[in-house]
Amino acid sequence: MVYSYANCVGTSRYKMRLKLVGFLCLVCRVSGEEFPSLITANASIAVVLDRQYLGDKYQAVLDELKDYIKELARVDLTHGGVVVHYYSWTSISLNKGFLAVFSVASCLDTWDLFSRTEEEELLLFALTEVDCPRLPLRSAITVTYAEAGEELPQLLLDLRTSNAFKWKSAVILHDDTLNRDMVSRVVQSLTSQIDDESASPVSVSVFKMKHEINEYLRKKEMHRVLSKLPVKTVGENFIAIVTSDVMTTMADTARELLMSHTMAQWLYVISDTNIHNSNLSGLIRALYEGENVAFIYNQTDNSPDCKNGIMCYCQEIMNAFISALDAAIQDEFDVAAQVSDEEWEAIRPNKIQRRDMLLKHMQQHISTKSRCGNCTTWRALAADTWGATYRHFTEDDILKENDNGTEATGVIEKVTLLDVGFWRPIDAMTFFDVLFPHVQHGFRGKELPVITYHNPPWTILHTNESGAIVKYGGLMFDIVNQLAKNKNFTIKILLPGNVKNEISNETDALHSRRAMLALAAIAKGQAALAAASFTILPNPTPGINYTIPVSTQPYAFLVARPRALSRAMLFFLPFTADTWLCLGLAVITMGPVLYIIHRMSPYYEAMKITRQGGLATIHNCLWYIYGALLQQGGMYLPRADSGRLVVGTWWLVVLVVVTTYSGNLVAFLTFPKLEIPVTSIAELIENRALYTWSINKGSYLEMELKNSEEPKYKALLKGAELTKPTHSSETNAHAGVEDFMDERVAMIVPAGSPYLALLNKEINRMHKAGLITKWLSAYLPKRDRCYSMSSMAAEVNNHTVNLNDMQGSFFVLLLGDFFFIVLNDETSLPFV
Ligand SMILES: *[C@@H]1O[C@H](CO)[C@@H](O)[C@H](O)[C@H]1NC(C)=O
Ligand SMILES: *[C@@H]1O[C@H](CO)[C@@H](O)[C@H](O)[C@H]1NC(C)=O
Ligand SMILES: *[C@@H]1O[C@H](CO)[C@@H](O)[C@H](O)[C@H]1NC(C)=O
Ligand SMILES: *[C@@H]1O[C@H](CO)[C@@H](O)[C@H](O)[C@H]1NC(C)=O
Ligand SMILES: *[C@@H]1O[C@H](CO)[C@@H](O)[C@H](O)[C@H]1NC(C)=O
Ligand SMILES: *[C@@H]1O[C@H](CO)[C@@H](O)[C@H](O)[C@H]1NC(C)=O
Ligand SMILES: *[C@@H]1O[C@H](CO)[C@@H](O)[C@H](O)[C@H]1NC(C)=O
Repeated sequence: MVYSYANCVGTSRYKMRLKLVGFLCLVCRVSGEEFPSLITANASIAVVLDRQYLGDKYQAVLDELKDYIKELARVDLTHGGVVVHYYSWTSISLNKGFLAVFSVASCLDTWDLFSRTEEEELLLFALTEVDCPRLPLRSAITVTYAEAGEELPQLLLDLRTSNAFKWKSAVILHDDTLNRDMVSRVVQSLTSQIDDESASPVSVSVFKMKHEINEYLRKKEMHRVLSKLPVKTVGENFIAIVTSDVMTTMADTARELLMSHTMAQWLYVISDTNIHNSNLSGLIRALYEGENVAFIYNQTDNSPDCKNGIMCYCQEIMNAFISALDAAIQDEFDVAAQVSDEEWEAIRPNKIQRRDMLLKHMQQHISTKSRCGNCTTWRALAADTWGATYRHFTEDDILKENDNGTEATGVIEKVTLLDVGFWRPIDAMTFFDVLFPHVQHGFRGKELPVITYHNPPWTILHTNESGAIVKYGGLMFDIVNQLAKNKNFTIKILLPGNVKNEISNETDALHSRRAMLALAAIAKGQAALAAASFTILPNPTPGINYTIPVSTQPYAFLVARPRALSRAMLFFLPFTADTWLCLGLAVITMGPVLYIIHRMSPYYEAMKITRQGGLATIHNCLWYIYGALLQQGGMYLPRADSGRLVVGTWWLVVLVVVTTYSGNLVAFLTFPKLEIPVTSIAELIENRALYTWSINKGSYLEMELKNSEEPKYKALLKGAELTKPTHSSETNAHAGVEDFMDERVAMIVPAGSPYLALLNKEINRMHKAGLITKWLSAYLPKRDRCYSMSSMAAEVNNHTVNLNDMQGSFFVLLLGDFFFIVLNDETSLPFV
């Protein structure tokens, strides 16, 4: 086409026509020749019977199949025909516009063929040997043919490829019922590498135990094997391939050894049952709360009218195909009859659509009509254990304060087994539900009783006007709600004590009574969890277990907020006492020094000058030095250089002292000096004469201190006044900087609760994600005036000097006045 188009030169109209023809032909080449409509051409399929795989049976199978298909097409294919091409090996060329390929070949050849049909987007339905991973369901059908009784490895392989368990490792426990050949096939089926990327290999450890008829010996043997299992390294996913009586012993032993818990998964594969003897619920002695147990058991019917064999499967698959093809042709006729030819070309199914349609039809046909190997069936059951024992507890059990309420033991009285699915050789596992429902769906939406009471900020019960509780909040409920979301349960709130309406006038007595009731109910196992804060005590009430700490509450002590010191003596503050003392001494000594220097100077004698006025007496010299300190000059100065040097040096001293004093005084006016608060236990104990302290009687702190060996804690408790707890929180207190003891707060579960590890794991995840810190911060007091010192800083910024600050100078004036008046009488004291 391209050739003729390229060669064409002529009028533009001619060119146009050629182009158009070329385009149409291109369309018909793609869709017509390579991919004919089922209306216009008979479908052609390839049937590959591998001569090597079939061996002696090849000719017989080929002849029988040829006859069968001919007859089938004649009878069942009412709307057209089918062209069948037969091949005796798998490496055929697939470019012939086949609709589908049917193959009977070895596993390896089948997967090899599949990779090529995938490329050509062809439908492949294959019959292959046992222990072969099935081809992906979205584009192929695989039937594995096994002699009866050989299906176990294939069953496990199918479980693995259908992702019934998502395990990285597994422990296989088996007894003599599984022979050595079978064990290696089972291991192979779990560990082999498969092209299908969804099913990664499982690492397997195999443990064998002797088959003992005697129940006692069997138990002993079981105990020996199970107790030695290194579960840390081999994991906690178990596949037990056993007989039904061994199964019950093993389940009991595993329970005794605490190997059957929420994190472990047990799959029992029971082979010695059959269709007439397969009431498994009769065999399961007991199930316990929190286990993950699933059963796959043999439901095979050994009746003589069971059909099996290669020919049976070949016929059945061809049947399904012809039926699907007939439906597809019928479909295309129906649609084509309603639209024009051009429209039909546009809307008719493409290769992939047609393949999917045929595949769906065939799968449906097989799942409803298949009879081959239908006697071999295995059924899968899952035990529904999580949350099962809490069903019958009601609020009334807990409200009863006397002790004869029912107790939970963990044994599930009414065992519920979920019908999870079944396995057949022809179409592998058919699942209605997941094999380990609790691993994937947690509690499956079950209701768990949760005990709580009002105790902010941990639990906050909101009531409406009529006193009914309408909402539950607080940190514990944030956590419990998250748990419920992650583990798929709903919460049934139980409130201890018949005092629902008294939340607003909560008293301590009521509060502690509720806490006691909650503890008692948990100890009896009447609720799964107490959503309330309990301090983790070193020797807890029997019958309960704490979860990991939800929060850590450090203890600190409260001291009165430090006050600004009195400012009466403000003018003294710039210098410390010793500075003042030195200054006083300096004044006192400088007077005599000046007098002596002045007196002894030969200058006056030499110059014949009389020493005039003031400095002639020691008394006057003193006053002069004092005056100079206050920057008052004297009337007369020494005339001799020596005396002047004394005075000059003193002036320099005065300059430094006065400048320092003024500067410091301003600073003290601006920044008030605070009392030094007590901030640590050591300081507190040091100052025990000044401070008294108290500890709430009967509190956690008192108990911890009593148990403590550390001398400082002992001293702390010895010096403390024990008081009744009060709730008035001091607004003007200041917390010490040292957190001296931590109180850890947790929720509680009944002792031995199977869910403790699970809850701890979840709470730990919440801690790591920072969720708990975030939730808690929402309930704690906001940063208010207690929190910060900002009010004081504000005061500092615009401080105006007030009478408070100035009172000291007035005191000095008053004092001066007093002396002044007293001394004035004694005229004998001479003033200059
Ligand atoms: C399709 O097959 C039928 C029956 O085998 C036959 O009669 C018919 O001629 C075939 N049609 C074509 C187009 O080959
Ligand atoms: C399943 O049960 C049937 C009938 O009891 C028995 O023949 C067959 O061997 C059993 N399958 C296995 C794998 O044991
Ligand atoms: C299975 O056994 C249990 C107890 O042995 C019985 O209650 C139940 O009805 C049996 N189920 C069937 C389907 O036989
Ligand atoms: C298997 O198929 C045969 C023939 O249709 C039927 O009689 C028999 O009941 C089936 N067996 C089972 C276990 O479904
Ligand atoms: C919770 O359980 C229900 C009941 O089994 C299940 O349908 C649902 O998918 C589960 N939800 C989650 C998130 O697992
Ligand atoms: C308070 O809540 C209860 C229970 O939901 C309801 O019956 C009652 O009418 C509510 N009262 C008011 C005043 O809203
Ligand atoms: C649970 O509590 C019991 C006693 O009440 C104690 O023996 C056991 O060790 C605790 N379990 C955990 C996991 O702390």
